[in-house]
Amino acid sequence: MEDYGFDEPRERRRTRSIKWSLGEEDGPWVDYPPAAGELPQQVELLPMWLADMDFPTAPAVVAALQDRVEHGIFGYTGLDDAFFEAVTNWARRRHGWSVDRDWVLTNSGVMPAINLLIQTFTAPGDGIIVQPPVFHPISQAVEYNGRRLLNNPLRYDGGRYEMDFAELGHLAAEPDARAMILCSPHNPVGRVWSPAELRTVADICADNDLLLISDEIHGDLTYPWADFVSTGSVGDRYHDRLVVCTGASKAFNLPGLKTALTIIPDDGLRADFRATLRNQNELFGANLFGTTALTAAYTDGTQWLDSLVGYLAGNVDFVADFLAARLPQLTLVRPEALYLLWIDCRALGRSGPDLDARLRAAGVWVEQGATYGAEGEGFVRMTIACSRVVLNEAMERVAKALGGPTS
Ligand SMILES: Cc1ncc(COP(=O)(O)O)c(C=O)c1O
Repeated sequence: MEDYGFDEPRERRRTRSIKWSLGEEDGPWVDYPPAAGELPQQVELLPMWLADMDFPTAPAVVAALQDRVEHGIFGYTGLDDAFFEAVTNWARRRHGWSVDRDWVLTNSGVMPAINLLIQTFTAPGDGIIVQPPVFHPISQAVEYNGRRLLNNPLRYDGGRYEMDFAELGHLAAEPDARAMILCSPHNPVGRVWSPAELRTVADICADNDLLLISDEIHGDLTYPWADFVSTGSVGDRYHDRLVVCTGASKAFNLPGLKTALTIIPDDGLRADFRATLRNQNELFGANLFGTTALTAAYTDGTQWLDSLVGYLAGNVDFVADFLAARLPQLTLVRPEALYLLWIDCRALGRSGPDLDARLRAAGVWVEQGATYGAEGEGFVRMTIACSRVVLNEAMERVAKALGGPTS
């Protein structure tokens, strides 16, 4: 397989990377890299927090963008056949879903879409179900829009996270319940939901007349030991209340191009959402670079993506082996998808803030588990989308921080 250079550490400071700047212009680091071979040690605080990769995107995407830049005219832009073919072929081949091109809308991101969906299809005070521990902007979108958070915590027995369907049924039957936001695959716990699980969720939503919003932005980052399918694929009968939010931004590392897909099979729901985008928010046309990149990624990026997922799988194994050898008190919740690892540190008996302070003092920045809900207390979420030499340095720092012997 072609070598895409995933093993090569990359300089990202002074590129306006949010992950690397930590809000400061140049970050609190000494020069990086001063010399090959020394680089990770030169960085005072390694950023392993944001869901953003330290890899350049697929060469086909860079080439398509360069091509478009050459033209030099960047006026208001629409969508073309190549875009729709790329999206519908990708959905069929990679997500098991036959999507009609008319169902596909674009906007600036999955979270903007989720916020606008909440505003379009629910009213202030309505209940919306989420499943903590969950990517916190999802819960915040419910609360910041003045809707009521109906929490259906995932169950964890030390092995695999599962949904609590009995409780989900109860919440869905609450008189003010209007919608559910499903995270599939689930950030941060890394579960890829099976078709049977997705069908049960869709049945509960259908029985209670809830809109089902399926956030599938991590779907293309599924490991070879799991199978991802879109919620859209589990039954046409659910299509009249389904919205799928997805895109190429996570898997191809394009979030700075601010482009996501909102796939809505039902004509009525789609017309209402289109009205929200166009009439209320003046969202006219598509992002030229975002849709150019997405088209190239879905058309010519398959080999790169498969190679990326293979490299990430190697990173998962690296961390699993490191923990087993050096920090056996920590338990890696083995991910089925996501380049974000969910690590159970509860056996250390330390609070989240204490874990965080120790890790930062040792020079590594991860996300505290409680960020994703009280259920995450004592866990950390760590991004592993970086070269192995950086990951190794990060793990050495974790070992230093959390008590393992240093090598
Ligand atoms: C589950 C999930 N949804 C949405 C997003 C954000 O997507 P966007 O940048 O398109 O708003 C993320 C980013 O990490 C995510 O993990």
